[in-house]
Amino acid sequence: MGALTDKVATKKYEPHVAMGPEVDDDAVFSLLGAPLIDCMLGGGRACCIAYGQTGSGKTHTQTNLQIRAARELFRALETRGEELLVMVSFFENCGDRCYDLLHERHEVQLRDDGTGEVHLAGLRAVPCATVEDVHDALAFGNRVRRTEATAANAQSSRSHSICTLSLHQPSQAADATTPVGSLRIVDLAGSERHENSATHSAERLQEMKEINYSLGCLKECIRSQLLAAKGKKQQHVPYRNSKLTLLLKENLEPGIGEQDHRRTAFIAHVSPMRSSAAHSRNTLDYAAAMIETSRAEQERKKFVGPEQWSKKHMVDWVAQLDGGRFTHLAPSFQMTGKMFAVSWVGELHRRVKAAGGTEADSNFIYDAFHMELKKAKAAQRSRKPSDSSEARTAAVASANQKRKANPTRPWESSGLGVAMELDVPAPHPGVHVQRE
Ligand SMILES: Nc1ncnc2c1ncn2[C@@H]1O[C@H](COP(=O)(O)OP(=O)(O)OP(=O)(O)O)[C@@H](O)[C@H]1O
Ligand SMILES: [Mg+2]
Repeated sequence: MGALTDKVATKKYEPHVAMGPEVDDDAVFSLLGAPLIDCMLGGGRACCIAYGQTGSGKTHTQTNLQIRAARELFRALETRGEELLVMVSFFENCGDRCYDLLHERHEVQLRDDGTGEVHLAGLRAVPCATVEDVHDALAFGNRVRRTEATAANAQSSRSHSICTLSLHQPSQAADATTPVGSLRIVDLAGSERHENSATHSAERLQEMKEINYSLGCLKECIRSQLLAAKGKKQQHVPYRNSKLTLLLKENLEPGIGEQDHRRTAFIAHVSPMRSSAAHSRNTLDYAAAMIETSRAEQERKKFVGPEQWSKKHMVDWVAQLDGGRFTHLAPSFQMTGKMFAVSWVGELHRRVKAAGGTEADSNFIYDAFHMELKKAKAAQRSRKPSDSSEARTAAVASANQKRKANPTRPWESSGLGVAMELDVPAPHPGVHVQRE
C-alpha cells in the first residue's frame, strides 16, 4: 500500500493476486472462481470469503461469483458428460441465529456433532436441473437477505451469507449431506463504525454490535491460526466464540492429510479513499496474516524431520550411524520414524538383541534418534517464514513472468502468484489470498 497519509510510511503487501479497476467481473471470475470450480469438480471443498469494510464491494463480487460459478459448473459438467446432481443452499447468519434464505427465512439450528463437524439442522438444499434454476434460487435468496442503508452503503448487508453449490451422485439425492464436491460463497457483513451509529434504533445498534463482534472473532481466529502455523506453542484457535467462526472453521483451518482436498480464497476488499485508510490497512493486515499462515503451513508440510522418516530412511540412518558400527543391526529397524518416536526403549532392546546386538547398542541408537528429533524440533521452531524471503522474491518475479504469459489463470503456473504494491487508485480493488 502506498503512503496513506503524509505521516505513514509505505507498507508493502504481497497478495497472491491484486485486482485494480481495470479488472472486470469476468476476469475476477477467471482469476478466482475457475480454480475453485476445478477444486469442487475434483471432489474438494472450495470456498471464497469476501472480507472488508462496508461499501467496499463484497456483495457485488460475491453475487457475480455466484452467477458465473453456476454457469461454469453446468458447462463443465456438460463437457465432461458427468451425471451429477447440483444442489444449492443459501442461508444468512445474524449473531447467534441462522435463517434459510430459500425457505421463508426459516430458522436453522447450528449443531456441532462433537467430532468438530458443524451441521445446519433444518437447512434445505434445492436441487437445480439448469443454470437458470440456480440463478433464480440465488436471486431470490439475495432479495430476502437482510439489508439496510448505512452511512457508506445504501444497500448494506446486515448479515453474513453463505451460499453453497454442491455436487451429488444422483442416487444420493435424498441425502444432501454427502456431497462429492462443494463450493461455498461467503459474503460477510461489513463492520460499521460507532461514530456512524448516532441515529441508529436499538435494533440497529444490536445488529451492529453482533456484526462487529463476529468479525472481531474472525480476526482473532486468523491471528491465532498464524501463531499456531508458526508453531510457537500449542495454540488454541477460538472458533467457538461465535457462530460465524464455527461456520467458517472448515474453510479456515489447515487441511488434514493429503486426502483432505480444500481450497479457500480470501478476498480482501479495500477502498482507495483517504478516509478509509485505517480500515484498508486493517483489512490488508488480516489478509497478510492469512498469507503468512498459508506460507508457514506449506513450510511445515515440506519439513521432513525424523518423525517423517520412512522405513527405508530409518534403516539407512541406523546403518551409517557412528561410522557404520550398527550396519548389521540396521535391517531390524524396519519401522517409520513416527513409530520409533513413540516406541518404548524395552521394545528396541528386544529388536536389537534378536538381531545379535546388545542393550548398550540399543541405548545408543535410541539416544541418537531422540537427539536428532530434538534438534529437528528446535530447527523447525526457529524457521520463520521470512527466512525464505529471498527465495520468495525470486518466486514472485517468476510468477509475474508466467502471469504475463498466461494472464487469465495465473496461479495454474504458480503457487505464489503476484506481488503488488497496492497504491492503485481503484474504486473497488480486491486483494486475493489463496490457500490450500
Ligand atoms: N466492481 C464494482 N463495479 C461497480 N460497482 C461496484 C463494484 N463494487 C461495488 N460496487 C457498487 O458499490 C456499492 C457497494 O457495494 P457492495 O454492496 O457490494 O458493498 P459491500 O462491501 O457488500 O458493503 P456492506 O459490507 O455494507 O454490505 C454497490 O452499489 C455496488 O453495486
Ligand atoms: Mg454487502
